[in-house]
Amino acid sequence: MNDMVGYVLVILLSMGGLITYTYNGLEYKGYPSISSCTGECYEEYKKREGTIAEQLAKKKAAAAGDPFSSVRGLWAGCAACHGQQGQGMGMFPALAGRDSEYIIDRLTTYKNRGEVGRMSATMWSQASLLSDQDIETLGKFIEETMNE
Ligand code: HEC
Repeated sequence: MNDMVGYVLVILLSMGGLITYTYNGLEYKGYPSISSCTGECYEEYKKREGTIAEQLAKKKAAAAGDPFSSVRGLWAGCAACHGQQGQGMGMFPALAGRDSEYIIDRLTTYKNRGEVGRMSATMWSQASLLSDQDIETLGKFIEETMNE
């Protein structure tokens, strides 16, 4: 009787193994869907698209006719150094109070790897991610929303 139980167990276990093996083989692994996108993959996605909450906020703002909806997500990155209101932080220069022409000129210079101050290299990587349209909108955004 004991032998029988052992025998059945072995069969069950090996069937389980076979099913797992087959299932793994059938699983489509070529294109990671967002549901299997975790860790580094999700960080990448978040960088590109923003979190789901940010995406919703963006859509909402766009729907409300916000002319700066396209750069609010971007600005969150800038704010890490320049401050939420562009007030500057320590070695990071203030942007508040600058007009759009100044901002656009600086960002274009950085995008072309031009030197402004001693820490220009910090801005090269930042500006390289910006399109000309982004730069123009950021200029207006800073001029119009950070002037107080
Ligand atoms: C990692 C920190 C960091 C981030 C993030 C960052 N900056 Fe900067 N930014 C700097 C530093 C440092 C300087 C000074 C560079 C220099 O010496 O030329 C600077 C300079 C600038 C200047 C020129 C200021 C002046 O007084 O001439 C502008 C404009 C600017 N940043 C805009 C932005 C925008 C817009 C973003 C977001 C897309 C951004 N920065 C993101 C660190 C940062």
